[in-house]
Amino acid sequence: MSNRMWGGRFSEAPDTIMEEINASIDFDKALAAQDIAGSKAHARMLADQGIITSEDASKIIAGLDTIASEIGEGKFSFSRALEDIHMNIEARLKELIGEAAGRLHTARSRNDQVATDLRLWVRDAIDELDSRLHALLLALAAKADAHHDAVMPGFTHLQSAQPVTFGHHLLAYVEMFARDRSRFADARRRLNESPLGAAALAGTAFPIDQDNTAAALDFDRPAANSLDAVSDRDFALETLAAASLCAMHLSRFAEEIVIWSSAQFGFVTLSDRFTTGSSIMPQKRNPDAAELVRAKTGRIIGALNALLIVMKGLPLAYSKDMQEDKEQVFDALPALSLCLAAMAGMVADMQPDRDRLKAAAGDGYATATDLADWLVREAGLPFRDAHHLAGKIVAAAEQRGLALEALPLEDMRGIHPAITADIFNVLSVEASVASRSSFGGTAPDNVRAQARQWLDKLAGEKAGA
Ligand code: ARG
Repeated sequence: MSNRMWGGRFSEAPDTIMEEINASIDFDKALAAQDIAGSKAHARMLADQGIITSEDASKIIAGLDTIASEIGEGKFSFSRALEDIHMNIEARLKELIGEAAGRLHTARSRNDQVATDLRLWVRDAIDELDSRLHALLLALAAKADAHHDAVMPGFTHLQSAQPVTFGHHLLAYVEMFARDRSRFADARRRLNESPLGAAALAGTAFPIDQDNTAAALDFDRPAANSLDAVSDRDFALETLAAASLCAMHLSRFAEEIVIWSSAQFGFVTLSDRFTTGSSIMPQKRNPDAAELVRAKTGRIIGALNALLIVMKGLPLAYSKDMQEDKEQVFDALPALSLCLAAMAGMVADMQPDRDRLKAAAGDGYATATDLADWLVREAGLPFRDAHHLAGKIVAAAEQRGLALEALPLEDMRGIHPAITADIFNVLSVEASVASRSSFGGTAPDNVRAQARQWLDKLAGEKAGA
């Protein structure tokens, strides 16, 4: 039997392989709620415009509600022969309400239908990501506040560079995740136009009201060009791009957590709730959640690449290639949401070892820049010369196996006579961080003020757009 939704001109049924490659129902059933919402808005509009009768519209809407409950209760039987979610729902509607079901697709095509459904789905996903980001930001800012003064090594090239505070390090991620959040908000704003009414590609001859359907589905306005409305997936790509950046940030942080929680670093302890044990080595506490956050970045960036490659050669307007958009989006955005939740949990439970951080902060002559700065400030040396002399003092300390502040004053004066005992005031890691009070710098007072500002701002915000 030919396909009953479009088989008018066909005398043979599709080959099973054709059916297998063509059917999207196995994954696009995730669009059921959005498809039903879109169809209800469309049916109401058709009745408002006198294109179908209000009796038919009422039957359609009641039937769609029944289908929504059937799906919710797991009673709906999805069929591959009916290809996709749109035709599965319409076929069931026909069984439920008879002839009126056939009027639902007036002035509509699966092309504007699927573009609408996917926009609605991505919009919901963005709202969920926004709440997850909000929760992560809160966890980070709270931890930063609590440890605004815990001195730790700051690294460049993963070599000790200058001391910073643990709170300052966490607030760096607050800035990154806040930008991620604003990228999702931008994407949401641009995607929020309704494709309904674009029909297959050219619009429709029926006297539809696109403002009506747009408003019913909480879109800001109808899309202004029917060809564009059915054929671009930039809204999905833009969201995947924002997701990729966010995942990249999460992955860097996850990598740091893996390093920090190793016995060799011992900077932080993760909770039992966000670690696993080894089945052979009883001492182990593995940072699996951090590792998986780091790994899932691969599939998220992969989804962006895959969809960009699907889209880049397609002539306007719709091509079936675009059916391949869904699995990427359905995989990547929930994966990111899970990563954000796992990261928020890890951060909230994470305990920094303040003594260990402080001891490590002084390793590697991390206050050599403070020494050079002192020579500039107190002895009037040009920074380049001061840098050179500080390097010589580091070499002297290294030779004697001493920390900078343990090197006797005479040794330093041997390198430059202007050095006085006052130098010891800048060589401690606490003095070093306290002195860096430039805007955005690591001074604990700065860090506390910024952490509190974030906490206030976040408390006053409603997450989830
Ligand atoms: N399942 C299809 C998709 O996801 C729906 C649109 C089909 N349109 C068409 N002209 N065959 O893209």
